[in-house]
Amino acid sequence: MPKQPNVTLAPPSGRLGVLIPGMGAVTSTFIAGVEAVKRGLGAPIGSLTQLGTIRLGKRTEGRTPRIKDFVPLAPLECLSFGGWDIYEDNAYEAAVRAKVLDNSLLDQLKEPLSAIQPMKAVFDHNYVKKIDGPNVKSGANKMDLAQAVMQDIQEFERRNNCTRLVMIWCGSTEAHHKAADVHGSLAAFEEGLRRNDPNIAPSQVYAYAALRLAVPFANGAPNLTTDVPAMLELARNNEVSICGKDFKTGQTYMKTLLAPGFKARMLGVRGWFSTNILGNRDGEVLEDPASFKTKEETKLSVLEQILQPDLYPELYKDLYHAVRINYYPPRGDAKEGWDNIDIFGWLGYPMQIKIDFLCRDSILAAPLVLDLVLFMDLAQRAGMKGIQEWLSFYFKGPMTAPGLYPEHDVFIQLMKLKNTLRWMQGEDLITHLGLEYYD
Ligand SMILES: NC(=O)c1ccc[n+]([C@@H]2O[C@H](COP(=O)([O-])OP(=O)(O)OC[C@H]3O[C@@H](n4cnc5c(N)ncnc54)[C@H](O)[C@@H]3O)[C@@H](O)[C@H]2O)c1
Repeated sequence: MPKQPNVTLAPPSGRLGVLIPGMGAVTSTFIAGVEAVKRGLGAPIGSLTQLGTIRLGKRTEGRTPRIKDFVPLAPLECLSFGGWDIYEDNAYEAAVRAKVLDNSLLDQLKEPLSAIQPMKAVFDHNYVKKIDGPNVKSGANKMDLAQAVMQDIQEFERRNNCTRLVMIWCGSTEAHHKAADVHGSLAAFEEGLRRNDPNIAPSQVYAYAALRLAVPFANGAPNLTTDVPAMLELARNNEVSICGKDFKTGQTYMKTLLAPGFKARMLGVRGWFSTNILGNRDGEVLEDPASFKTKEETKLSVLEQILQPDLYPELYKDLYHAVRINYYPPRGDAKEGWDNIDIFGWLGYPMQIKIDFLCRDSILAAPLVLDLVLFMDLAQRAGMKGIQEWLSFYFKGPMTAPGLYPEHDVFIQLMKLKNTLRWMQGEDLITHLGLEYYD
């Protein structure tokens, strides 16, 4: 018997506009990648929406469709891209500058990439100290700037004939700041925009503009952005989905693979020292201690939640955890991340694990951007408003409803994601309970 879906899902008809504040390495690698896949010049490796499958029903049923055949996702051919940056480079120039993809590939994609010109950015040097650029909006106050972004969005939608939009922040990491009174309610925030409150970061101006227009917003950086009551209120009022924050790609991804394994076997961890060298613009921005502090917070938070030292004091109470990032230009986007992990086993005997991950930051991040865009559009069509915790899978610091702790274990996150898709389509949730033993 066909299953009854739990949600009414409007089909993904028409064009989906993908709006991206920050057109640097991640964005240009993402857009170039989609254009390459569309032309058969590459495969979407790393993307769950494009390559992943989902088991349905009992194992004996043999039903394992591709995720993209199970839920109605926007096809790659129907995506239109737009963005903002403080630099005037178009997406082709940004990709060449980022030096992530080979020029021989980029040359084949020059036409579609060159057509994507960045719109003027909302920028405040106090929030990103290491860079400055000419392509910046001016306005009497932050409310004027928010309105200018809303105009950009509406203009983009009209020009590209879009039926739906999604915004995803791939801009720089902003200086660390905490939620202030101005973030406490929507009314306080709007008043703060009008009187140019310095506690409102540029990323919050974009997010406000998106949510005002009921455009779903995902946050790829560790910035505070939507993690404040004012934004949650706006998302709820306008019935729009949000998620974040900070793409979980290289070293932190490794951490969330390993730490659940240590805990599953009741192995202790005494120390975890993580260090990185990277030479891209992201690395340069993170040289500023204020931006690094924002990043450090999401990078440090994962172990505490996974290992639960309160429940297992004999294993994890004395864990020393440190994360360092060093800007080292010769490496460009090809980051090297080292981890030294001091673990202990039976009777407390110590052991060590060393990881040396020679990764490529934007190659790891680009498929996450694609998945988030497609899943956020799906969530919005399914009427799922507010924080999308089922997308925690993609983030170092998953947003949660107030009062709840985030789930960092990547295997639990993946189960939650797939069960949410099953639930949408009215399929049984998979619990791995194995009750068939009693049949
Ligand atoms: N690559 C990864 O693996 C990864 C993982 C997690 C998070 N991130 C985050 O993703 C973001 C993008 O990374 P990237 O490597 O592409 O960095 P990047 O420096 O190459 O690109 C960021 C771009 O944002 C622009 N920008 C800064 N402030 C802006 C503003 N207010 N409005 C519009 N544009 C603005 C910059 O000019 C720059 O071109 C960073 O915050 C990074 O920390 C990346």
